Amino acid sequence: MNLPAAVKVVEVGPRDGLQNESEGVPLKTKIALIDRLSATGLPVIEAGSFVSPRWVPQMADSAEVLASIRRAPEVSYPVLTPNLKGLERARQAGARDVAVFSAASESFSARNTNCSIEESLERAAEVAAAAQSFGMRVRGYVSCVLGCPYEGEIDSRDVIRVAERLYRVGCHEVSLGDTIGVGTPVAARALVERVAESVPVERLAVHFHDTYGQALANILACLEQGISVVDSAVAGLGGCPYARGATGNVATEDVLYMLHGCGVETGVDLDLLVDAGHFISRALGRPAASRVSSARAGARSS
Ligand code: HMG
Ligand code: MG
Repeated sequence: MNLPAAVKVVEVGPRDGLQNESEGVPLKTKIALIDRLSATGLPVIEAGSFVSPRWVPQMADSAEVLASIRRAPEVSYPVLTPNLKGLERARQAGARDVAVFSAASESFSARNTNCSIEESLERAAEVAAAAQSFGMRVRGYVSCVLGCPYEGEIDSRDVIRVAERLYRVGCHEVSLGDTIGVGTPVAARALVERVAESVPVERLAVHFHDTYGQALANILACLEQGISVVDSAVAGLGGCPYARGATGNVATEDVLYMLHGCGVETGVDLDLLVDAGHFISRALGRPAASRVSSARAGARSS
């Protein structure tokens, strides 16, 4: 198989995961989770978002999170910033990395950000320009790249158009989000191949939710197409408040197990990551949505 020697794993659990918890997770649990993740060797941990607290109350305490975590010097802690107000809040909270987001579906864009795709791209351009002037790094997300909860099939030309715009406004990385986890490997790989004609493949990341159990297969197919940045969430946390039926992100534990088993380096300690997954699963009162975590627990108790 033609796989990269190393993959950068972007941990999105504290943001993409915890934004979806209806009960609201205590601040000290968020901080303890991120501190545990920081000790695993993960290079990037998405720590929160500066979106409207009326839209996503679960992330309203992101400034306190950033103020209280022990930041490891080699780890970056990006936060989502949908507009200049979010960027200013993030800057005041000491964020050095931010992420902007758009979608390949008009209906999802309207529900998630209350604006058209074009307006979200204009906001992303404003945020990216301001962030760069402050010396911050900007990541971009495209949602619904392989299907939309409201529109169904998505034309890959819409994904390419949005990804290319995000790249051109200065996103150092563009993450292709299968928000509702409907993609399958042949389609995922073909999409990466097409988008890579407009955005260099080394600037692309993949972001799979595991709703239909396809995420690992999709990741592998995309790695074969030259991808070397993969988003995932500890304990398979996740979902999107504006994508009904979207379950968790692919579990970081499962991604690491697959990558390490295939000889691909990540620099992340799987045992420590599994422990972090147990920690947050205990706090949420449900088992981790990770096959590797369950297998390890089973092996220990037998
Ligand atoms: P809006 O209501 O159209 O905003 O929301 P507005 O500009 O009209 O402002 C309305 C009020 O919100 C004002 O307050 C603003 O100040 C305030 P008021 O004057 O009424 O008191 N406001 C803010 N407050 C704090 N921080 C801000 C902010 N902005 C405005 N940043 C907006 C537009 C984009 C803000 C809203 O739709 C929003 O916050 N959306 C975010 C939704 C979200 O976070 N979704 C989940 C993340 S995306 C995702 O999960 C997908 C991803 O994982 C990839 C994948 O899986 O596909 C990334
Ligand atoms: Mg997501």
